[in-house]
Amino acid sequence: MLPSLRFFPSLCILGVSLLVPFTLWRNDAIYSSIFRPQAETPSSDLTCPQVSPIFPVVHAALDQHLNTLYGTHEFRLYASDVLGGAIRIPTESYDNLLPVGQDERWNVFRDFHDFLESSFPRIYLSLQVTRVNTYGLVFHWQGSDTKLKPILLASHQDVVPVDPTTIDQWIHSPYSGYYDGTWVWGRGSVDDKADLISQLITIDTLLESEFKPKRTIVIAVGIDEEATGTEGAGKLALYLEAKYGKDGFSLLLDEGEGYGENAKNGTIFAAPQLSEKGYIDVRIEVLSPGGHSSVPPVHTSIGLLSLSVVALEKQPHVAEFRRTGTAFVSAQCNVKYEDYPSQLKDLARLATVDDKSLLEFRDALISVNPFFGVMLRTTQAVDLVEGGVKVNALPEKASVVINHRIAEHSSVTEVKNHIISTVSPIAAEYGLALSAFGENVSGPMHIQHQNQSRIILSEAFQSALEPSPVTPAVLDGPYGVLSGTIKATLESSQRYEAERVVVAPSLALGNTDTRFYWNLTRHIFRYSHRGDRDDMYNGLHTVNEAVRADSLVEQIRFFTKLILNCDETQTL
Ligand SMILES: *[C@@H]1O[C@H](CO)[C@@H](O)[C@H](O)[C@H]1NC(C)=O
Ligand SMILES: *[C@@H]1O[C@H](CO)[C@@H](O)[C@H](O)[C@H]1NC(C)=O
Ligand SMILES: *[C@@H]1O[C@H](CO)[C@@H](O)[C@H](O)[C@H]1NC(C)=O
Ligand SMILES: *[C@@H]1O[C@H](CO)[C@@H](O)[C@H](O)[C@H]1NC(C)=O
Ligand SMILES: [Zn+2]
Repeated sequence: MLPSLRFFPSLCILGVSLLVPFTLWRNDAIYSSIFRPQAETPSSDLTCPQVSPIFPVVHAALDQHLNTLYGTHEFRLYASDVLGGAIRIPTESYDNLLPVGQDERWNVFRDFHDFLESSFPRIYLSLQVTRVNTYGLVFHWQGSDTKLKPILLASHQDVVPVDPTTIDQWIHSPYSGYYDGTWVWGRGSVDDKADLISQLITIDTLLESEFKPKRTIVIAVGIDEEATGTEGAGKLALYLEAKYGKDGFSLLLDEGEGYGENAKNGTIFAAPQLSEKGYIDVRIEVLSPGGHSSVPPVHTSIGLLSLSVVALEKQPHVAEFRRTGTAFVSAQCNVKYEDYPSQLKDLARLATVDDKSLLEFRDALISVNPFFGVMLRTTQAVDLVEGGVKVNALPEKASVVINHRIAEHSSVTEVKNHIISTVSPIAAEYGLALSAFGENVSGPMHIQHQNQSRIILSEAFQSALEPSPVTPAVLDGPYGVLSGTIKATLESSQRYEAERVVVAPSLALGNTDTRFYWNLTRHIFRYSHRGDRDDMYNGLHTVNEAVRADSLVEQIRFFTKLILNCDETQTL
């Protein structure tokens, strides 16, 4: 999971954003610079479609029975204890892991499997458990009605390594799994063992209650989500597609954003992610003749490379705000349910029909919080640079690698074309040949020879990934079932007294294991049912990762309702 650029709408506009003082809105100077006075009265409404809470009906008694069980002190202790045990097995994944079978660092996953099997004997007895590529896991709970498409719950066993130099900063040691009465401590407590363990505890208590599913339930557990995902989800995807077919699942739920509480107005915003940005690393390399530094040309390869970098940074990708995009619905939901000034609400309303207002709405949101622009545009970050070997030798080669996160509406090809068209004029001006992604694009080809200076664009690290398909936010389909379940869980929770729960779709800036699962269903959700104060002891991927035990129980309540709801609904 991405090291969490949280943007709970409730904290401000999709914001990083406790940092953006709310009073900003009350500053008249900023108002008038952002808003034109609107003459007409907007007629359209803000679009943030919501469903009602969905509680199990057929299984109402079972749901209530389990709810009572989950509310006990003993149950919370039990759940914390299992999670603690899972944390104590350090299933670290590394960027340089060799494939399974060729690297003994995978062996720790054996211990993890043993732990799962001894913690959940009922599951191993009753469900079909399949090991894919040795350590990937699939649990299959056969439903009685084979016409109903199964649901797929996903998670991962691996964790980000603990930096040994930070161990003394941990309040409880990173693999202690210590439960202090409030928090369960350790690497993986949140990402992603809370998701995995709460899924398995849910299945286990349902088995114990002699629940017999109509709809098949499948759980898939990756092993290298924090690295490339190829050994785990990459292989699981092939297995799952072969066994269940293309589009074989009614919905897929993997880790992702959670919910945030709004202290101001008693609204809880839950933010299931409906899409993920794409990805590509592009290398720009400039080759030019070497020689002695005492007789240099006007531009060395480093200078020419710099010109390209400057040109690209001067031409960032446009932040495109489309009504059909996830960010639009997201923004509408925020503005509708948050305490924003009426000017912004009016602008948001107009933006649903008027193109000029759409742009103004976008600019207003970005000026309050630049993070909003990051969601809307393909980002570029020049992250690596290399060039030159000796101070008295002209560099024959200089290069940078630019990391891109590709916007929902864009594509890998569009990113490549953007770089080609930005760099081409420089190549032309300085008489450089340009070759891009394996093609000779431009340049004085007739005088090409070995010493011809050139710019070479190429994909670095074979990382290209298109933006994911966008999950449809249909209220009478899987999105509706998920939304209704989230609402039911939160509205019936002892932990909150929310006046309102709003489900507002969001988009992921990073990638999860779901990038391998596109063929399995159109209805992919990245959502972890967890509050913004449940894992914020110190965040994930850093020291003092910890999760509230109450939140673990809350997740179990959520998975229980989700499984029961999916079992009774025909609309999946
Ligand atoms: C805040 O909550 C009150 C009471 O539910 C409601 O009347 C008001 O409209 C809410 N404010 C916003 C901005 O939603
Ligand atoms: C591009 O030009 C170089 C230098 O002239 C040549 O060696 C190479 O084969 C060309 N590549 C393609 C794909 O045409
Ligand atoms: C290319 O450069 C090398 C060394 O700088 C030189 O010896 C050679 O003659 C050059 N070739 C051409 C075609 O200019
Ligand atoms: C999805 O299906 C397409 C078409 O059959 C196939 O080429 C591709 O490899 C599949 N993707 C994954 C990740 O399995
Ligand atoms: Zn994760």
